[in-house]
Amino acid sequence: MDKKFETNAIRTQLNRTENLEHSVPLYLTSSFVFEDAEDMRASFAEEKQRNVYSRYSNPNSSEFIEKVCQMEGAEAGFAFASGMAAVFSTFAALLNSGDHIVSSRSVFGSTHSLFTKFFPKWNIDHSYFKVNEVESIEKLIRQNTKVLYAETPTNPGVDVLDMEVLADIAKKHGLIFIVDNCFASPYLQKPLQFGADLVIHSGTKLMDGQGRVLAGITVGSHELIDKVYRFSRITGPALSPFNAWVLSKSLETLAVRVDRHCENALKLAEYLESHEKVNWVKYPFLKSHPQYEIAKKQMKAGGCVVAFEVKGGLEAGQKFFDAIKLLSLSANLGDTRSIVTHPASTTHSKLTVAERAETGITDGMVRVSVGLEHIDDIIGDVGQALG
Ligand SMILES: Cc1ncc(COP(=O)(O)O)c(C=O)c1O
Repeated sequence: MDKKFETNAIRTQLNRTENLEHSVPLYLTSSFVFEDAEDMRASFAEEKQRNVYSRYSNPNSSEFIEKVCQMEGAEAGFAFASGMAAVFSTFAALLNSGDHIVSSRSVFGSTHSLFTKFFPKWNIDHSYFKVNEVESIEKLIRQNTKVLYAETPTNPGVDVLDMEVLADIAKKHGLIFIVDNCFASPYLQKPLQFGADLVIHSGTKLMDGQGRVLAGITVGSHELIDKVYRFSRITGPALSPFNAWVLSKSLETLAVRVDRHCENALKLAEYLESHEKVNWVKYPFLKSHPQYEIAKKQMKAGGCVVAFEVKGGLEAGQKFFDAIKLLSLSANLGDTRSIVTHPASTTHSKLTVAERAETGITDGMVRVSVGLEHIDDIIGDVGQALG
């Protein structure tokens, strides 16, 4: 019988050792031993599926990967030391010099830097489309375009892209469609069901959910993941066994945590929407969100991030940050602790003012990652800081 999401998240685990431990042990080992010369030869020749060296695979990473594959409905995956290691290694494994990427303009700042500052060194070019102009995508596709890339919801503007529309375009032009799903988590959204070929996560966010470890993962078909694996086992961006162990435990509580994140975030968004000192609020499950219908179609709930603009621009924004008492001024998101960020001066500061404007990041914009404190206390702090 097929088990539910929550059950698989808890009950998927490595085979027990002779100690019959209840909770999975930590395999803090860099390498594994062989029975004899023939075992060693056959293992290196990949005639046997077994652990050889933790840069290639490790039991704790395998358990984490297995859980995420079940959650996303994927055949295979590879786990990385950070979300950016996942983003970089996935592109590097799939692309050759002379290839071209078509991507949503609203991508995480470091992903944007990868496209603009580093990929040109290897003659890999990109073109951007605006989130609300998907009809322009086909005009950007060239003979050498290989990948269509998007985040949804986007960071930090929480815009939502219609993955079915993007998947149809990718299919028509023979492109690999990759979705960064870390704002939603596999509990809220499963891009492979909407036609994506690969899904990337920063496990640092909702997956860990407690602000402890950096991690990343890419999942998809055996064929594509094999390419990612071949590149990564040589170049060494693998997740540490310790962090994999932490993450696999974290996934056991993903569903309950994300449910509460979303409940709190919606309440905060509704509160901000009626606040006189707020210009606008964006949250995927607010009816006023420009892509509310798309969000409803592809997400179970709206996620943990709310974006809004304080009236009075940069100066009012700075006053708001200085008045915050309980919430953390930090750059992470998806943590138990609520976090307020000023994208223009932090995560997206490397973008020019014009580039920020194109992705909807204004000087007075605030991004709140709504945590698991009591909602009355979260609203109380935001309210006093606005007041
Ligand atoms: C959408 C998105 N993708 C990727 C990353 C990179 O993840 P990491 O910080 O784990 O490298 C982030 C980090 O904030 C992110 O928000």
